[in-house]
Amino acid sequence: MALFRMLVVAILAEGTPLWDDNCDSCEAGSAFLQLELSKDRAHVISSDLQASRYWFPTKSVDNNRSGQSSVSGPFPLHKPDTAHWELNVPGVVFHQVPMIDDKLNIYMGSDTGKIFSFDKYGAKRWEANGTGTHCQDPSLFEGILYTACRDGSVLALDMMTGQLLWQRKICKELPFEHYSISVTKDHIFLPAGVNQHGGYVSPFHEPLDIGSPAVALLRREDGRLVWRANLSKWNAVTQELTPCMLSDSVIFSGGMGTIFRLSLQNGSLIWKVDVGPNLTTSAQVSCTQDGKVFAGYGGYSGNDANDRHVGGLYALDIKTGDTLWTRSFPYRVYTPVAVGEIQGHKGTAVIVAMGTPGQYPKKTTENHTLWALDANTGAMIWSFNTPSCTALGARGGTLEEMCWPLAWSAPVISKDGIVYINWAFGGVTFALRDINKDGLCDLHNPEEVSSFDFGIGHQGGPALAPGMLVVLTCHGPRAILTAAIEQ
Ligand SMILES: *[C@@H]1O[C@H](CO)[C@@H](O)[C@H](O)[C@H]1NC(C)=O
Ligand SMILES: *[C@@H]1O[C@H](CO)[C@@H](O)[C@H](O)[C@H]1NC(C)=O
Ligand SMILES: *[C@@H]1O[C@H](CO)[C@@H](O)[C@H](O)[C@H]1NC(C)=O
Ligand SMILES: *[C@@H]1O[C@H](CO)[C@@H](O)[C@H](O)[C@H]1NC(C)=O
Ligand SMILES: *[C@@H]1O[C@H](CO)[C@@H](O)[C@H](O)[C@H]1NC(C)=O
Ligand SMILES: *[C@@H]1O[C@H](CO)[C@@H](O)[C@H](O)[C@H]1NC(C)=O
Repeated sequence: MALFRMLVVAILAEGTPLWDDNCDSCEAGSAFLQLELSKDRAHVISSDLQASRYWFPTKSVDNNRSGQSSVSGPFPLHKPDTAHWELNVPGVVFHQVPMIDDKLNIYMGSDTGKIFSFDKYGAKRWEANGTGTHCQDPSLFEGILYTACRDGSVLALDMMTGQLLWQRKICKELPFEHYSISVTKDHIFLPAGVNQHGGYVSPFHEPLDIGSPAVALLRREDGRLVWRANLSKWNAVTQELTPCMLSDSVIFSGGMGTIFRLSLQNGSLIWKVDVGPNLTTSAQVSCTQDGKVFAGYGGYSGNDANDRHVGGLYALDIKTGDTLWTRSFPYRVYTPVAVGEIQGHKGTAVIVAMGTPGQYPKKTTENHTLWALDANTGAMIWSFNTPSCTALGARGGTLEEMCWPLAWSAPVISKDGIVYINWAFGGVTFALRDINKDGLCDLHNPEEVSSFDFGIGHQGGPALAPGMLVVLTCHGPRAILTAAIEQ
């Protein structure tokens, strides 16, 4: 399992598209934050903010997990050469997605349990102690940051000061692998409990308790339990929970091949869909305004040589759970898709990243694939292939400083139709578009593919705000946060 991740921070940008084919042998570049402030920023803010109060309030942008941002993205990715800041926080490991508010302040949880906010110039606004370790992908809502930590507590912090507004213990323990807290006007939705003796084994042959056997809906105002749904009766365990929060229901993947829709009112089952025997659905779901839910899957028969070549995507009807279309791929899908408008294609596209993560404790050579499909038909729009990379767990990983992300992060689509994604295994952030409409985003065409080479793996997806693209990377058991700002 590629879930034992010890990552660290870091942040983004720039665009030299050059890295070594055997990228483990590259110099590990410093991980840093780039703030590229676009010239027309004021204009972008006033028109874009009508859609959402915060630029990047939750994983995959919104509660439908569309990955569709209302912000135009930078292309090419390039490193501004003016002001520059750097921050080194010892003892912090991250594997998360950063959040960005309306003032371009950045927020993140961490594996150590510390929660941070930085301003757009990289100055630390505040640092707060969580109630335990592994305080997970937060969500921002009306001035409050919500997160939950491994000790089973849900926390609400003041976004201005980091001050704890309330905490509530909802169970004995919560998963250490990352998941996203979901917040709506009335509710908070998250995993409840840890899957004991789940049968997973760490690279060092220790048993791992991965995933959660239940989910819970809480009141947003104080974290009081509304309902808890036990998934054990369906043999399901949620992993990396990133649900669609709809007005009357919640849709999510139970990791072992089942997609659920539960009533928000009382947690009762509206429908469930089994995608097939021996398939995992840890990739989670994305929903669309026109009533579709997309869920990726992969194989898990335990025979890795075969598993690698089983994967695909389901498009389901939100109302009924009926299958609208499916498409199989030669590789597994582990991460959420993005659904939105991309350059060069009329209608909605689905961006799906596939491929097997690196391994421990031996190095592997991997290359990975990304497809853009038409959301209505599943027809291929374009594909993108990375170069090959040889690494332990992920580029820049060592036995001492383990960096073990999945193959890819979740993708994000900018307002102007550019796809941003972190090639988690290879340590490179890509910006992609198929300008000549030949069905390929060509690695060697700088008009189509721009990249920033971090030299180190990174699991959390990129976060977009006007003039700003933020990425966290693995960096051993310490955090390096650097920024460059264009004046
Ligand atoms: C967090 O915990 C550390 C260690 O216990 C303590 O020194 C520090 O003051 C705490 N920080 C805050 C903001 O409470
Ligand atoms: C969940 O359901 C399983 C199987 O039905 C049962 O064994 C278990 O006790 C339940 N757990 C809780 C906390 O209700
Ligand atoms: C649960 O809520 C749904 C509406 O979402 C309703 O139709 C159903 O009857 C409720 N079930 C129970 C057991 O209360
Ligand atoms: C999310 O999906 C639902 C169901 O299709 C839809 O009603 C809603 O408008 C969507 N919300 C957004 C923000 O796209
Ligand atoms: C599922 O995996 C088991 C164990 O590897 C295998 O025996 C079985 O044939 C598989 N089923 C299908 C439908 O592939
Ligand atoms: C990955 O590498 C293998 C072996 O070199 C090659 O056959 C395959 O086409 C490559 N896949 C991609 C997606 O580039």
